[in-house]
Amino acid sequence: MSDSPSPLAIRTIHRSDYQPPDWLVETVHLDFDLSLDATTVSATLGIRRNGSHDRPLRLDEDGAIPEVIRVDGKAVAYTRDSGQLILPVGSETATVTFTTTIDPSANTQLMGLFASNGMLCTQCEAEGFRRIIPFVDRPDNMAVYTVRMEADRAAFPILLANGEKVAEGDLDDGRHFAEWHDRWPKPSYLFALVAGQLVANRDSFTTASGMDVDLAIWVRDGDLDRTGHAMQALKNSMRWDEQVYGREYDLPVFNIVAVSDFNMGAMENKGLNIFNSRYILADADTASDLDFDGVEGVVAHEYFHNWSGNRVTCRDWFQLSLKEGFTVYRDQCFSADMGSEAVKRIEDVRILRAAQFPEDNGPLAHPIRPDSYQEISNFYTATVYNKGAEVIRMMATMVGPKRFRAGTDLYFDRHDGEAATCEDFVRAIEEGAGINLSQFRLWYSQAGTPHVTARVEHDDASGTAALHLTQTIPATPGQPDKQPMLIPLRIAAHDRAKNAPGSEQLVLLGEAEASVSLGRFSEPPVLSFNRGFSAPIIAEVARNPGDLAWLAAHDDDPFARYEALQALMLDTLVARVSGGDASHDAVVAAVGNTLASWASDPAFVAEACALPSEAFVGDQMLVVDPDAIRRERRALQRSIGQTHEALLRTIHAGTATNATELSPTAKGMRKLHSLALMLLWASDAADAPALAFAQFAQAGGMTDRQAALGILAHMDAPERQTALDAFYARYHDNQLVLDKWFTTQAFSLRADTPEVVAALAQHPDFTLGNPNRVRSLYGAFAGNQASFHDASGRGYALLADLVIALDPKNPQTAARMIPPLGRWKRFDESRARLMREALERILETPDLSRDVTEQASKSLA
Ligand code: PHE
Ligand code: ZN
Repeated sequence: MSDSPSPLAIRTIHRSDYQPPDWLVETVHLDFDLSLDATTVSATLGIRRNGSHDRPLRLDEDGAIPEVIRVDGKAVAYTRDSGQLILPVGSETATVTFTTTIDPSANTQLMGLFASNGMLCTQCEAEGFRRIIPFVDRPDNMAVYTVRMEADRAAFPILLANGEKVAEGDLDDGRHFAEWHDRWPKPSYLFALVAGQLVANRDSFTTASGMDVDLAIWVRDGDLDRTGHAMQALKNSMRWDEQVYGREYDLPVFNIVAVSDFNMGAMENKGLNIFNSRYILADADTASDLDFDGVEGVVAHEYFHNWSGNRVTCRDWFQLSLKEGFTVYRDQCFSADMGSEAVKRIEDVRILRAAQFPEDNGPLAHPIRPDSYQEISNFYTATVYNKGAEVIRMMATMVGPKRFRAGTDLYFDRHDGEAATCEDFVRAIEEGAGINLSQFRLWYSQAGTPHVTARVEHDDASGTAALHLTQTIPATPGQPDKQPMLIPLRIAAHDRAKNAPGSEQLVLLGEAEASVSLGRFSEPPVLSFNRGFSAPIIAEVARNPGDLAWLAAHDDDPFARYEALQALMLDTLVARVSGGDASHDAVVAAVGNTLASWASDPAFVAEACALPSEAFVGDQMLVVDPDAIRRERRALQRSIGQTHEALLRTIHAGTATNATELSPTAKGMRKLHSLALMLLWASDAADAPALAFAQFAQAGGMTDRQAALGILAHMDAPERQTALDAFYARYHDNQLVLDKWFTTQAFSLRADTPEVVAALAQHPDFTLGNPNRVRSLYGAFAGNQASFHDASGRGYALLADLVIALDPKNPQTAARMIPPLGRWKRFDESRARLMREALERILETPDLSRDVTEQASKSLA
């Protein structure tokens, strides 16, 4: 490997500057001689001049520099400029050959070819392939790959790459080789190889057109019996994509590999998905229901990318939401179909509000199709993914399932084999579904969450009601002025007197202000607004506790019922945190009313009766007061717990039935079981520690055990430490479960949590080398609002210390820890100053990565 270039000025890349590549690499032959610390790669690239020009070939590089590059067999002198190798090529087509040498075991960034637990694997999205060889490393260069791997057979018995295995065999000195060929042209970010000691859970799937596909999930010896859920999810996904989108799998093999050191959730490499092991491994003893759902959702997500991402890929990284927004929408619908649609929608909206709304309302706000970036890794965001999915969902809502399918059929057929743009997708939906999306396109270009106000006006004299709507979209960085968007709002007006739900209508709000007739009512109707969360907006509805309680009990849309009860809680909490003395009574009564139906719909009841998070309460306030929010939230829980103590005890006892079954009802029972425990603890019931410890000790599965431990972690009782120690003793050899041990303590509501986190960072099991472990401690802590925002500022200092220590090893993961510090504008002066100081301290660190520099400097602005 050559010397590293001097630090470059950080460049901003603009979407409007897009130019097709001057040269295309059409075929790639790679010959890997694999070993943990010195792997050589011999590359043969078939290139073609793209258009008529006389510009040189430019290959993107990131550290893996060949000593000699040959063009048609002749060594060619090249120059280096801004991360590219530049070499003259005289002919229209040519063969470029060279060899690079890389050290996977020194690759702590986990990008390119890296070592994890003795195995070798790759991660190339977005720009990791250039860490293996210099290349036209951009998604609009699609090539056909042939990969030969050679390695020591004992150390690396399994050799996998994209596509199909075409040859294998033994070599001298205990070595062997395998050759793989992927017939589908693909961009370099979908390249993958894996080598290691792996065992497979094997199964098969027959596609609708009768092709047999060999399925394999590769894990380390000992993990095999935790792959069943992932395999079932894979088969269900394959069938679902055939049935719902008419998309079949297109290779005779599909491999999945689980690795323990991984920056993200998983990666959709063609025919060879590589997963963070937390999204593959699950059994009842070690995985909670949330983990099982995560496995199902991520397996589906990566599988669905085979069409939405691989067969049709992205022209450039500004189009990332083309594959991610659509694929998240697809995996959300899949999970809804596999379980409870209503509960899935509630969970997805909760994630959107927790992760995306703050992003849209802060210094890092960007449209789902960004206009510029410095480091693309910083744009794998909740906005591109989750808001992107909401934008697709709105299109589907406006046209209905049949026409939406006609639109996606046209999209897949028209762009199969291409690198497409978001605009291509929108145009396909327009034509295939028959809808004009001119104004709707603003969702791709404007950042910021729209605020929509809704007011019902009732005219006693004429007996008619009207709905008055307004929309405003707040200014975001670089976008001071916004245009009104097209916002699809599912609404209904309920006549309380009639006791029957009003019929639903879809209102398309396209103006800054609009009015809609609601029909005839003898008294003012109750508005059911943005049902199913049809648009990702902040609704400001003139509402009173009576109407909310009625909606919580009677609305026919389950999301609206959930939303009404949450709004009631939120209004009460915000009023009290802001110094008012709003009564708890309405909330306590409405929660009691919902709890009463626990046996018939446990999952829904558990969702609806869980209080909004501290962070979400904070999001409603101009200046967040974390201590008051924690105090008032706890006080409201106490009121609920004390008033309904008897019912909660009944529920807790009555839901302790099934520890491991994965049906929606059984999962709902478990969620409710622990919600009841939580409220009983909050009620200050004297036996709460004993009750929680009993649930912990007798749990038949991880869901009950982890939830009980989480509640115990808030307590001062001796049972707390006993349980934490028991959990550690039982699971310290299981990395994924040990992550839970760290997270549980970082989530604790106790006042000493910042010190506990600081101490855990020194724990022998803590390591900066494993992204899951880093997130399990610091990611959880940064999400624990009042603890992270401890007035002393030590939470901020802890996070800044982490970012500074992690950046030289793993800049991507370090940069992802920064956004919580960027919320300083929402806090009081003293906290804001401490948060800025933490960001400034990060920025003063020498040799900072581009990733962290971009996030920290934007967060200060
Ligand atoms: N493309 C992956 C997904 O969403 C995410 C990912 C991005 C993984 C970058 C690794 C690196 O499915
Ligand atoms: Zn994805």
